[in-house]
Amino acid sequence: MNGDVLLTRFTLGGQSLSNRTVMAPLTRSRADDGAMPTRLMSVYYAQRAGAGLIVSEGTVISPQGAAYPSVPGLYDDDQVRAWNEITDAVHARGGVIYAQLWHVGRQSHSSQQPDGLPPWAPSPVAITGASYYRKPKRLPYEIPRELDERGIAEIVGQYAAATRRALVAGFDGVEIHGANGYLVDQFLNSSSNVRRDRYGGGPEQRVRFLHEVIEAMATQMPSSRIGVRLSPSSTWMDAFDENKRELHSHVVSSLNRYRLAYLHLVEPEIAGSTDAEATPDDVPVADLAPLFDGPVITTGGHTPSSAERMLADGVADLVGFGRLYIANPDLSERIRTGRPLAEPDRKGFYGGGARGYVTYPTIAEEDEWRVLERSLARGDVDGDALLHSFEESSDLELAMSGRLYLKNQLSTHLASEAGAVNPTMGD
Ligand code: PHB
Repeated sequence: MNGDVLLTRFTLGGQSLSNRTVMAPLTRSRADDGAMPTRLMSVYYAQRAGAGLIVSEGTVISPQGAAYPSVPGLYDDDQVRAWNEITDAVHARGGVIYAQLWHVGRQSHSSQQPDGLPPWAPSPVAITGASYYRKPKRLPYEIPRELDERGIAEIVGQYAAATRRALVAGFDGVEIHGANGYLVDQFLNSSSNVRRDRYGGGPEQRVRFLHEVIEAMATQMPSSRIGVRLSPSSTWMDAFDENKRELHSHVVSSLNRYRLAYLHLVEPEIAGSTDAEATPDDVPVADLAPLFDGPVITTGGHTPSSAERMLADGVADLVGFGRLYIANPDLSERIRTGRPLAEPDRKGFYGGGARGYVTYPTIAEEDEWRVLERSLARGDVDGDALLHSFEESSDLELAMSGRLYLKNQLSTHLASEAGAVNPTMGD
């Protein structure tokens, strides 16, 4: 068997995980305009229930906390009901799923804010060196509005309310998105937090917001079901500290008092959604993990073999995979059987429909297609009639019944056959 340690069980927050692979949080922008999770998302998460743990895509705790449309929320009851379908689908397949709670702070834009004014942040410091994604053209980031103490307390309350909603929606736990230059990380880093009150100054003050968020959330969910995600090496979106090692050593050690479910750390190889160059002040997970008393997840550029090494060396307890879980819904099974891994196509990462989202095959679907291909070659099956019968269902229905891959393969196969028989057709 491959993945000797990676595929062993692990107990997290009192729950038994079937293996140590974690599906990392991934923004896929398939919610609807009301930040409402969709049925397509249920299919996507259910397909990946073989992960030991799924951490949901970033899910905003308020409309102000969002940077873009089509990102799901957990701030109203309809969203709770929609998420409940997803958690049920994952649980029905034996999976465990945490909700990642997200507030983007200054990474939002006035065009996204309910009151049309610039977004909220610890300090009125704009992001430079990057721009806000907008069609047809990117826009400069704005100088955010500085949160006062009341504003901070309100957001802390929204984290608690979203935690309550996550519990009602059937999530097994919650993860605080404290990484990648979003609101929590904006408080942590000196480049984005120049406050002079008790939320700014040294690392002890800058970590206060995170502590208050954890404490508020722990009134709604046991802290053993709350995880924290940090990206100690990232400078993405202009959130950085002149002493990353000192800052994050302090932050990580300070979390021990809460007896959290886990600490989820991003390796230096990744910054936000992109690959990063190594720099001399990188702080790899191996350096910070020993400071934390509970389970550690490492994510960022891992392959199954590098993951196995991290576990065998005792650096981490669980390993997150992002892009590999996009392209390999049954990643843990592929590792176990040694089946080749698929590479994801960036084109389908954000937005759009089923394609590039729920169209990556499982091993079983690949095998089913091979059998069908042989039957077609022998003339045992009428391909056109079969395609026609598939076309009576929507892509969502086909994805739900596990036949979307088969339909897509069949359709490509028949089109190429038609092309081969009459290459001038369509001229
Ligand atoms: C992204 O949408 O590219 C994205 C979202 C959340 C992250 C990083 C990247 O933490």
